[in-house]
Amino acid sequence: MTSPLNFWDQRFAQPGYKYGLEPNAFLREQAGRLNPASRVLAPGDGEGRNGVWLAGQGHTVTAVDASRIGLQKARELAASRGVALTTELADLTDWAPEAASLDAVVLIYTHLPGAIRQRAHRRLAQGLRAGGWLILEAFHPAQLAHASGGPKDADMLYTPELLDADFDGLLAPVLSWHGETILSEGPGHQGLAHVTRWLGQRLA
Ligand SMILES: C[S@@+](CC[C@H](N)C(=O)[O-])C[C@H]1O[C@@H](n2cnc3c(N)ncnc32)[C@H](O)[C@@H]1O
Repeated sequence: MTSPLNFWDQRFAQPGYKYGLEPNAFLREQAGRLNPASRVLAPGDGEGRNGVWLAGQGHTVTAVDASRIGLQKARELAASRGVALTTELADLTDWAPEAASLDAVVLIYTHLPGAIRQRAHRRLAQGLRAGGWLILEAFHPAQLAHASGGPKDADMLYTPELLDADFDGLLAPVLSWHGETILSEGPGHQGLAHVTRWLGQRLA
């Protein structure tokens, strides 16, 4: 028996890549912080543009996502580029990486509802070794005024202060910012947008 398509499966079942084939600009900017051959976790990697790019940079990447179709497309993208990508179908509501097993966690537009977000974020941060990096970009509540993408539900939008609190005591914030940018990421993210960017390092 096949399971019903979830919200993201329905979107990713469309032809093409919803957020394009290129990595997110903030991720590209910050990825130079990673040591060569880092162990990277990409929760909510969708169709794989970010995880596959990181694998192409020489990192060992695991993409975790609740969309079977997204992960299938991510594997196809990895194969087309000749890079290795490990994928795991899981719901971040009740999933955790092995403690201190990761050099980096990359959360790009992985919008989680308030009821589960903080606990999920803290479990992901606990997967980092001391000194490991968490790189996050998501839409800010001010994005509700724009039509360039993202959830239309304030409960799923992130401020820097909310992320500071989520990771408090686990990660030292290096950057905690919100502001406007121009997105050009496939048909899903196009135009003027208000985003939150957060970068932190695991405390010892
Ligand atoms: C907006 S898409 C972003 C995809 C990718 N990070 C990118 O930037 O191209 C959000 C992704 O988060 C995943 N996601 C949302 N909630 C999730 C959950 N609770 N558990 C696992 N994945 C989830 C969706 O399946 C989807 O692939």
